[in-house]
Amino acid sequence: MLLQGKRAMITGASRGIGKAIAMEFAREGADIILHYYENSKDTTITLKDEAESVAADIRALGRDVHLIGFDIGDRDDIDAKIKTMLKEVTPDVLVNNAGITKDNLVMRMKPEQWDDVINVNLSGSFFLTKALVRPMLRSAGSIIFVASVIGQMGNAGQVNYAASKAGVIGMAKSLARELGSKKVRCNAIAPGFIETEMTAAMAPEAKARLLELVPLKEAGTPDDIAKAALFLASDMSRYITGEVLKVNGGMYM
Ligand SMILES: NC(=O)c1ccc[n+]([C@@H]2O[C@H](COP(=O)([O-])OP(=O)(O)OC[C@H]3O[C@@H](n4cnc5c(N)ncnc54)[C@H](O)[C@@H]3O)[C@@H](O)[C@H]2O)c1
Repeated sequence: MLLQGKRAMITGASRGIGKAIAMEFAREGADIILHYYENSKDTTITLKDEAESVAADIRALGRDVHLIGFDIGDRDDIDAKIKTMLKEVTPDVLVNNAGITKDNLVMRMKPEQWDDVINVNLSGSFFLTKALVRPMLRSAGSIIFVASVIGQMGNAGQVNYAASKAGVIGMAKSLARELGSKKVRCNAIAPGFIETEMTAAMAPEAKARLLELVPLKEAGTPDDIAKAALFLASDMSRYITGEVLKVNGGMYM
C-alpha cells in the first residue's frame, strides 16, 4: 500500500473529486482528515451528514477518520479550526480540493462573483496551507492543489475561475521552491472535464462542445483525478515537485 502510515487531509471531501481522493487514499492505507463545508455564520450550510457517510465508508476499510468542518472562504474559521485540530492530528499530505464556480461574462460579472471565487479557490487554499505548513515540515510531506485546465487555457465566462486556478498553479510552484529544502513537495493537478455535481449543471450542448476538444472523446471521472493525486501524494513521485499534472484526456497539451 502506497500511503501506509500516512495521514492525509482532503478539503471538500464529502462528495465529487474530494471524496474519490479520500477513498483512494484510504484504500492505499492512509488515515484521513476529512474536511467538509460548514459555515459558522450561516449554520444552515453544513455538509456534515454527507461527510459522515464518506467517513463511515473509510472506517469500514479499517482507517482512522478525523472530521473537520469549516468555510474555506473564512480565514478566521480556518485558523480556529486548524488550531484545535492540530492538538489531535497533523497531516503528512494536504490536498487543497474544495472549489466553486460562479460563471458570467466579464461585462456581466458581479463583484461578489469575482470575490467569492477568488476567496474560496485561491485565498482559501493559501490560508489553509499557511496554517498547516509549519507542522507539516516535521514529515517529508506532500501538498497538492487541485487546479483546472481552465487555469491553463482560459474559458469565456470564467475569468474569475481561470484567474483563481492559474493563481493556484503559481502558488504551488512558489511553495515548491520555498519548501523543497525541507523535503515537502508541492504540486498541482489540472483536471479537464470531469463528471461531478459541479459539471452536472452544464447545458448538454455546452458539454458536447467541450467534449469535442477532448482527443479521448469522453469525460474523466473523479477516480481518474484520485489516481493522479495518489501518485503525487506517495513516494512514487519522490523526485517531483513544482509540477502541474494534466488529467484532461488531451484537452489541453
Ligand atoms: N469537475 C470538473 O470538471 C473539474 C475540472 C477541473 C477542476 N475541478 C476542481 O476540482 C475540485 C473539486 O470539484 P468537484 O468537481 O468535485 O465539484 P463539487 O462541487 O462536487 O465539489 C466541491 C467541493 O468543495 C466544497 N466547497 C465549496 N465551497 C466551499 C467552502 N466555501 N468551504 C468549504 N468547502 C467548500 C464542496 O462542499 C464540495 O465538497 C474543485 O476545486 C474544482 O474547481 C473540477
